[in-house]
Amino acid sequence: MKLKTLQWIAAAIAPLWLGLHFFASINGNSQKAFMPGEATHGHHQIQLQCSACHTEDMGVQHDACATCHQEELDRVSDSHPVTKFLDPRNADRVAILDARKCVTCHVEHQSDQTGQMGVTLPEDYCYFCHQDVAENRPTHEGLPFNSCSTVGCHNFHDNTALYEEFLERHLDDPNIKENPKVKELNQYANWAEEHSRTALEIGERAVPSEVTYSQDIAFEWSQSSHAKAGINCIDCHQSEETGAWLEKPGFVSCQGCHDYETETFLQSRHGMRLGQGLSPMTPAQALIPMHAGAAHRELSCTSCHDDHSFDTKFAAVNACMSCHDDDHTNSYKGSKHFQLWQAEMNGQGPEGSGVSCATCHLPRIEMTEQGESITKVLHNQNDVLRPNEKMIRPVCIDCHGVGFSIDALADPNVIDNNFQSMPSVHVESLEMVVEKLQRVARERAEN
Ligand code: HEC
Ligand code: HEC
Ligand code: HEC
Ligand code: HEC
Ligand code: HEC
Ligand code: HEC
Ligand code: HEC
Ligand code: HEC
Ligand code: HEC
Ligand code: HEC
Repeated sequence: MKLKTLQWIAAAIAPLWLGLHFFASINGNSQKAFMPGEATHGHHQIQLQCSACHTEDMGVQHDACATCHQEELDRVSDSHPVTKFLDPRNADRVAILDARKCVTCHVEHQSDQTGQMGVTLPEDYCYFCHQDVAENRPTHEGLPFNSCSTVGCHNFHDNTALYEEFLERHLDDPNIKENPKVKELNQYANWAEEHSRTALEIGERAVPSEVTYSQDIAFEWSQSSHAKAGINCIDCHQSEETGAWLEKPGFVSCQGCHDYETETFLQSRHGMRLGQGLSPMTPAQALIPMHAGAAHRELSCTSCHDDHSFDTKFAAVNACMSCHDDDHTNSYKGSKHFQLWQAEMNGQGPEGSGVSCATCHLPRIEMTEQGESITKVLHNQNDVLRPNEKMIRPVCIDCHGVGFSIDALADPNVIDNNFQSMPSVHVESLEMVVEKLQRVARERAEN
């Protein structure tokens, strides 16, 4: 083989080999130097896991984003899905802004250009594709383009609580509904029966003789709904691989019986590091305010569910407040929502009428499985966090009207004081819908 050819082959292979070698070794702290800048707010916890987004030759594939986000975008019927832009009729728009690629709008490592929600475009970008919006919509005349998505009217992806027909159905909602309550959970209602288990007594524990434990543990377990559903110590403490007693069961021990809770926890800002096989998240690594005393607690199922009692009431407020330490969190106990929560805890308010941190952040989601309606606890608190209108359908409208909810969520003061006051801003979406309906009726009458 000629020397030139060999040189050419070497030159062609070298970057490939370097690339493979680079990415085989790059995950981890020592490789931070290769990163052009900090990752966005949403990804900072996994930013050193380069291979989560980058391919071996450094490029970022659409598939990487889709692996973690497509399901969530599909579930909320993404208003601008990639498929919309594969349609040749939209080619002129794609030529201006290539919305077929996530990275057109969500570039990483550019903190100085990154806005809320990892968006790296100027605020008025809707203009690129919708310059003519006022032509068919007199209500939109003169509205500045940077207001489309910043004042509570529209989102780029999730418009499930904002689209026209939905607003039209909710024009007459009262601010507070009659008998306001959240949905009831029913996933485990028949579990014990279906699995042929019966309630266990304190004596029926099946613990290896060499294991010592305190009577507190035995007592808490005996009072828990696990014992009542026939779930024994070894259901959590036995390793599936070796059969040996596990001193500290991790989320894997829960997953077999609590698949949905575990999956959504691993997609969340609480569990995303565990989801990537990294060490657990701790408050010490957080970007938002946390109690100093909680700095080194590790995020797992038992950070909220005290082991052995697994009490969901404790998990819903006190657990959260033992780590989080921002104005919004610390204002919660002054709210009417908290009064409602206390009343429910004291047995004065009906089941489901209280509003805890978890009511809003770990909402109860209704879904259909094999023709049956099942309500489960979504453990990914970020799924409904931003844009905050995502909270309207799964949470607020159990108890409030749509118009009231949109206004409350558009008022940053109301969020800071944790809903201790009535909203002082007003989003005119409902009026625009009414105006449009009247105009259509008028035009019909004229023709
Ligand atoms: C959450 C996803 C994500 C993670 C994790 C991530 N990156 Fe990136 N990175 C991106 C995106 C998106 C771009 C922009 C790509 C584009 O514009 O086509 C990028 C761009 C880059 C670039 C500029 C070159 C290029 O391809 O445009 C370098 C260099 C880079 N990343 C290095 C790293 C390193 C090193 C790590 C790990 C320490 C890392 N990245 C972790 C998403 C990520
Ligand atoms: C390993 C899984 C993973 C990959 C790969 C990944 N993300 Fe994320 N992303 C997350 C998680 C987890 C969050 C935080 C929780 C949330 O906001 O849903 C997040 C948050 C976000 C946010 C919201 C940020 C905020 O502040 O609310 C955006 C936008 C985003 N990702 C876009 C992307 C894009 C674009 C890519 C591809 C370059 C990508 N992600 C790749 C897991 C991933
Ligand atoms: C044309 C610009 C654009 C493109 C392309 C785009 N996004 Fe977004 N994305 C936004 C904007 C703007 C937001 C802020 C919230 C909103 O308006 O929906 C956002 C918010 C998000 C969020 C957080 C909020 C939410 O609703 O979950 C995620 C996750 C996300 N994008 C993922 C993606 C992924 C994955 C892709 C590629 C399939 C993508 N985006 C393509 C503009 C874009
Ligand atoms: C890259 C081009 C592009 C950008 C940027 C864009 N859109 Fe769209 N949008 C479209 C296309 C294509 C449609 C499909 C209907 C059509 O052809 O007008 C659409 C449809 C819509 C609809 C009609 C509802 C629906 O589900 O069909 C609304 C409302 C909308 N966009 C609002 C916005 C807002 C608000 C922004 C900025 C946050 C935005 N769009 C940014 C291309 C874009
Ligand atoms: C529903 C699952 C589950 C059941 C049932 C359960 N445990 Fe545990 N156990 C755990 C978890 C989770 C931990 C805490 C691991 C950690 O701290 O990271 C734990 C911790 C322990 C520990 C060590 C830590 C400590 O607090 O001293 C002992 C001992 C223990 N359990 C004994 C028992 C006994 C005895 C029973 C039955 C009476 C039992 N467990 C039932 C999940 C369970
Ligand atoms: C063998 C199956 C099984 C395992 C393993 C298991 N659970 Fe459970 N868990 C159940 C069942 C069934 C229920 C519902 C009991 C009821 O309400 O009748 C339940 C209920 C719960 C509840 C709600 C308690 C309440 O009072 O409402 C929590 C929280 C919980 N489990 C957490 C965990 C955690 C965390 C782990 C792992 C450390 C775990 N579980 C392991 C089957 C299991
Ligand atoms: C951030 C705190 C937090 C973490 C972390 C957490 N949970 Fe929960 N979980 C809750 C709260 C709060 C509820 C009760 C919500 C309600 O009643 O609406 C709950 C409810 C549950 C239930 C009862 C659901 C039902 O339908 O009755 C199960 C089971 C459960 N969690 C399992 C888990 C498992 C498994 C993990 C770890 C993979 C985990 N949780 C991590 C806060 C948490
Ligand atoms: C053991 C400590 C701990 C407990 C308990 C805990 N959290 Fe968190 N929480 C964290 C950490 C750490 C983060 C990640 C912050 C970051 O990435 O900057 C987080 C993130 C969040 C976020 C996302 C913030 C954002 O800006 O994206 C919300 C919302 C949240 N937690 C609510 C809750 C609620 C509600 C509860 C109780 C049901 C709870 N947390 C229990 C430590 C905790
Ligand atoms: C009535 C619903 C509701 C209740 C109750 C509630 N929150 Fe929130 N929370 C929100 C909304 C809405 C946001 C703002 C999302 C946005 O616009 O960024 C938010 C934001 C947050 C954030 C993110 C703050 C940041 O700077 O990133 C954390 C953490 C949080 N809440 C924790 C809690 C805790 C802990 C409690 C209970 C003590 C609680 N929340 C009670 C609705 C609620
Ligand atoms: C379980 C029912 C329930 C849920 C869910 C709920 N709320 Fe409320 N909320 C109430 C009730 C009831 C009141 C009125 C209490 C009173 O006036 O005594 C209230 C009061 C309020 C107030 C007025 C506070 C004041 O001081 O007058 C605001 C603002 C508010 N809620 C916003 C929200 C938002 C936004 C959501 C969704 C993120 C939400 N709420 C979820 C039941 C609920």
